Order: sequence, then structure tokens, then C-alpha cells
Amino acid sequence: AELGFDSDAAEKGGYEHFMLKEIHEQPESLANAIRGRLDFNLGTSVLSGMGTSARDLSEIQRVVFLGCGTSLHAGLVGEYAFEDLADIHAEVQQAAEFRYRNPIISRSDLVVAISQSGETADTLAAVREANQKGAFVMGLCNVVGSTIARETGRGIYLHAGPEISVASTKAFTCQVAVMLMMALKLGRGRRFSREEGLKLAREIERIPELVERTIQQSDKIEKIAARYAEHEHAFFIGRGYLYPVALEGALKLKEISYIHAEGYHAAELKHGPIALLQKGTPVIALANDIAGKDKTLGNVEECRARGARILGVITEGDKEAAEFMDDFIEVPACHPLVATIPTAVALQLLSYHIARARGCEIDQPRNLAKSVTVE
Ligand code: G6P
Repeated sequence: AELGFDSDAAEKGGYEHFMLKEIHEQPESLANAIRGRLDFNLGTSVLSGMGTSARDLSEIQRVVFLGCGTSLHAGLVGEYAFEDLADIHAEVQQAAEFRYRNPIISRSDLVVAISQSGETADTLAAVREANQKGAFVMGLCNVVGSTIARETGRGIYLHAGPEISVASTKAFTCQVAVMLMMALKLGRGRRFSREEGLKLAREIERIPELVERTIQQSDKIEKIAARYAEHEHAFFIGRGYLYPVALEGALKLKEISYIHAEGYHAAELKHGPIALLQKGTPVIALANDIAGKDKTLGNVEECRARGARILGVITEGDKEAAEFMDDFIEVPACHPLVATIPTAVALQLLSYHIARARGCEIDQPRNLAKSVTVE
């Protein structure tokens, strides 16, 4: 301080919090995660860390994603991506559940352990369990040389750069981007044609730019956030690819703002949660212009009829969807699976600005740890 140099601010690159810095780093982190991994000749991806031949991959019958917290939500996006793009039965399991349930695993299963830190106790134990059962186990980690990365012996690093803020942001979007590239690779080994592969590779290549455009709306999102910061409850709804993003949006908000936030499949609202809606209750509806939008807009109407205040995340220029919302944030039009990434970024910014308006600590929320290395 004597030298007029604030080392704290310098560490945060001039941002008020690590979380904001990490949100803003995403175009670069994603570019690093993608760089050198798309093959525009063969219309596929190059993921040498997987250490698999095309023949190995052709023998995979099922993919099981394992993770905790935000990484679990990324796995849920992976489940959709693998089924839709690679035509492989895929599922996601909470790592603690997997480790104790005596899972049915065979040698034709690919088990993908997702962990930013590579040190989460439950995820590590799940890796050991899957190894015992002879599955093909790989890691999807950010921290190079972490325990999970070492014990799986194969995998893909995110290259997101160090993530300091307890609430995960750039690791999540890089996890999703890497899983899309994995799905592309496995898809090409199955029914995906070169043309289809090329199309998807081009969409994946656009991710950093799509995220950049979303971040540019930070000021607008901050203004919207001010209208939601006073509430103690919030609901996030989505369906299809956006369902996991709704879960992640709610997790982010509760982690850093201490608002009681729940993510639900839009169709589940009627089965209970709708009973909680009152005049002004915030409902954040993910209604991008992709499959399921009309149904979600129908659910939005139901919420509105109960007096909820609706904040929509919609596709840029979608006037029809905008009509349904009290407020809305726009994300660029893109491939529906890719849309999960800018949508998640919009929700990160929303949570950040709400938490800041509430005067929360943000980088180190009460009771939470960056890495949970005990059960
Ligand atoms: C902790 C962190 C979360 C993170 C989870 C899994 O709970 O606070 O942000 O998503 O652990 O961490 P991992 O390092 O395994 O991705």
C-alpha cells in the first residue's frame, strides 16, 4: 500500500471480485479449452488425452458422468449431448450416490469423472469404485496433476485457468464445451457424417464469441438484478437442454446471494412448487428459441396467473417470447446445445449482480469451500 500498489486489486485484474474476473475471463478460457481440439478436415475433434482409438470408442455402449455440485450439472448437459449427438446411452450420477450404491458397470462403459479441482472426495471415491469394476475411466479436470487426473490416468484438461472464487463459473462453461467436443468425436465414430460434424465444429468454434456478446450485457443485467435483489425466494425453470442450466442458475444464486433459489424442470412446477408462488415471487424462465420453448412459455403463463414476476432468458430478437416476460435477458442465437453456455453465463452475471446488490461476500460465501475434500 505504501507504494500505492494494491496487490489485492492487482490479483483480481482490477475487478471487484474474483468471480466477476472469472466470468469475464470466459471468452479466453473457452478459447483455450477449444484451441487445437477441432478438426475441420475430418469434421471431428482431437482429444488425445482420452487415449482411445476409434475402435475403442466404437465399443463404448454407455457413458456415465460423475460429479458433485456445479460439475454434476455440467454432467447433466453431457447426458443430453451424448444421447443426441453420439447416439449413446448416457447418464449422470451424483458421485456420492454412485460410490455407495454398488453400481452396475461393465467394460463397455465409459465413466467420466468431472471435477474442476480434481480433489473432491466423493468424486475421487467414485473413480476408485469405477476402476475396481473395470470400466474405462477418464477425468475431466481443470487442475493439472490433481488426484482425479492422476488416478484416472487419462482425460481432458479444461485449460480454464485457475478458478479462485468458490462459486464455479468458467470451469462449468469449459466442462460443457469439452463435453460437446467429446460428443462430437463419439458421434463421428457412429452415425454422424463429416458434414454434420463440420457443422457442429463450427458452432463450437463460435462459443467464445457468443459468450463475449453475453458478457457485454452485464450493465443491463445489473439493472435487472436490482429489481430482484430484495426477494428471499426464486425459481428457475427450463426444459430439455436448459433444464440443467436452470439447476445451475439456482445453485449459483443460492451460493452467493443466500436467496432461497430452486431449479425445476418447467413441467414439474405444477406438481408442487407452484403452490409457493405469490404476488411478486421471481421466476427465472429459460425460454431460448429451441425445442420446448412453447411449452415453457405455457408454464410462464401459469406462473404469471399466480402473480409471479417473470425474468426470461430468451434468444436475441425473439419478440414473441419477450411478450411473456416482465424483464428479459437476450442471448445470441446458436446451436441449441451450445446455447447452454451463453445462457449459463447470463445467469452467472445475474447472480453476481444480485449478490453484490445485497452486499454479500461473493468470493467466499459462508459455509462453503472451493474444494470439498472430506465426505
Ligand atoms: C464445491 C464447490 C463447488 C463445486 C463442487 C465440486 O462444493 O463449492 O463450486 O462445484 O465442490 O467441485 P469439483 O472441484 O469437483 O468440480
